[in-house]
Amino acid sequence: MTNPQHIAMSFLIFAALLFMGSSVSSEVDNSLLTEGFVSHVEDAEDPSNMTKKPSLQPKESKPAIATYTLKRLSQVCVMAKLGVVFLVKENKKTLYYNLDPKSTRVTGYCTNDKAVLSLEFDGGMLEFTFKKDGDQAYVITLRAKLEPEPSCKNCKSKSYPGILDHEKLFKTSKGKSFKCNSKTQLILAENLSIKLIEMQIQGFDLDKDTFGKEVECWADYTKRIIPIVVGAVVAGIILIAILVYVLMRERRSQGYEQL
Ligand SMILES: *[C@@H]1O[C@H](CO)[C@@H](O)[C@H](O)[C@H]1NC(C)=O
Ligand SMILES: *[C@@H]1O[C@H](CO)[C@@H](O)[C@H](O)[C@H]1NC(C)=O
Repeated sequence: MTNPQHIAMSFLIFAALLFMGSSVSSEVDNSLLTEGFVSHVEDAEDPSNMTKKPSLQPKESKPAIATYTLKRLSQVCVMAKLGVVFLVKENKKTLYYNLDPKSTRVTGYCTNDKAVLSLEFDGGMLEFTFKKDGDQAYVITLRAKLEPEPSCKNCKSKSYPGILDHEKLFKTSKGKSFKCNSKTQLILAENLSIKLIEMQIQGFDLDKDTFGKEVECWADYTKRIIPIVVGAVVAGIILIAILVYVLMRERRSQGYEQL
């Protein structure tokens, strides 16, 4: 029974099973909170510390991921873990600026049904306004501004303001956090977009100052599900191939017997 066809078939099945197994990943990451507003900077990649105003980069790079928190009566009321890229459009070119947690100040406030988390730095800011609406919480307004360092000495400095208003971004039910490992890109003006990376965000009802149960974004869900579906389809095709093969063999051997 150990002919090459059998070996090849077993190998295919094994490969399909491996493929299905590897596509199911678990990702639970509830980072605990330390003192201070900007905590646990994971990987800062921008050591340039000379100029104050943001200098736009021609190429995109991974921004530093950091956790920003806001407190009310010594309790965390907003928490956001993310990396931020500002994308500026200028003469059909796109230029990039990564938010640097080391030079970012956190300001804002929380009330019972509204919270404003503002990430400010010299030459710009990004501001989330959270709203609590019955059993739901979401970001209703996202505002950003970038005033990059002029591209030449005597150039006038430019300003790129942008806003998304009356939205229901990153919606969750009460006490849950919105999580998205995939990139989220939002257009705030015709010349300004924001990219949020490896984001987990929550306004209101943070139990014990940590993120609540995660709500997965659609992009992450499809990323997780598509390999499983593809794996199942591949497995199905292989199964059919085996059946056809077995049936053909049977028929052929019957044919021989009849002879
Ligand atoms: C960045 O600037 C601060 C003061 O503004 C200084 O203390 C620090 O050493 C600088 N870091 C680098 C890498 O130059
Ligand atoms: C970018 O666009 C906004 C309006 O969408 C405008 O107010 C602003 O001046 C523009 N900035 C530059 C530098 O062109």
